[in-house]
Amino acid sequence: MYVKNTKEILDKANEGYYGVGAFNINNLEFLQAIIDGAVEKSSPVIIETSEGAMSYAGDGDFRRGARLFAEMVKEFAQDLPITVALHLDHGHDVEHVVAAVQAGYSSVMIDASAKPFEENVKITSEVVKIAHAAGISVEAELGKLVGIEDNVSVSERDATLVDPNQAKNFVERTGVDFLAPAIGTSHGAFKFKGEAKLDFERLKKVKEFTGMPLVLHGASTVLPRFVEEANNYGAKIKGAKGVPYDVLKEAVKYGINKVNTDTDLRVAFLAELRKALHDDASQIDPRKLFKPAMKAIKEVVMERIDVLGSAGQC
Ligand code: G3H
Ligand code: 13P
Ligand code: ZN
Repeated sequence: MYVKNTKEILDKANEGYYGVGAFNINNLEFLQAIIDGAVEKSSPVIIETSEGAMSYAGDGDFRRGARLFAEMVKEFAQDLPITVALHLDHGHDVEHVVAAVQAGYSSVMIDASAKPFEENVKITSEVVKIAHAAGISVEAELGKLVGIEDNVSVSERDATLVDPNQAKNFVERTGVDFLAPAIGTSHGAFKFKGEAKLDFERLKKVKEFTGMPLVLHGASTVLPRFVEEANNYGAKIKGAKGVPYDVLKEAVKYGINKVNTDTDLRVAFLAELRKALHDDASQIDPRKLFKPAMKAIKEVVMERIDVLGSAGQC
């Protein structure tokens, strides 16, 4: 079933203390594989598209891309025994937000975290008005998404990561539905130089002060088995490191309910695609080459559902 408002999924996760995977897509193959994994685990799932994904799908026209994604996700979700939401990831301007709202997305993210606090409040409040009028929910972000090393000073941490008091103020003033607090993760395959550590004390405070569903960006685990396989078949992604499963579990325990994952899907898909191209060099049907790559995505999704505790919560 397609849910009109992502709040339906995340309020339940907040009450039940579990996390729901939010998986980025750019095409049909990723969507099919993610949904397959979620159905097999009877788990709710959030599909998300970046602004770049919308432009890619619409061949340069992000509004068209948003409509294509919304139609595709709705078509896949109907008659399914699980709840499926569609979310705009890292919307940076009102134009992209409006495109997603008009296309029928279930929620949008407005990411004005790089702007001064008061400007972030203003833009987010504006987006909340637009989205709530359409009956959908809004995610916003506070702090910078960067990995934090052990030797970083307290003042540097304070300048980079979310300020829990500011989070409370932000939520009260904007009316936002979900908050993404920066607690030490970053996007991509190279998140930490040393040990993967997140600022859980900060996370606990944000949860205590806001009580709302919280979102972890840059949450990919960067699974060593797929990195190794990709490198064995010609990739050059040495030194990649993500958020291990036990750290993710802790993050969920302390209040994370939406777990954004893109890199893990990319790495798994490309590792298996590289292998398939190598093993079956005479194959000219892309669909046959995509099959094992889609299976790898399904595997990643199912593993994450187990880690986040959303299996059976459809
Ligand atoms: O957070 C960013 C997501 O991984 C999407 O990335 O802008 O390359 O589509 P993208
Ligand atoms: P990863 O790069 O860790 O997959 O993070 C994705 C993300 O945060 C999308 O918004
Ligand atoms: Zn993100």
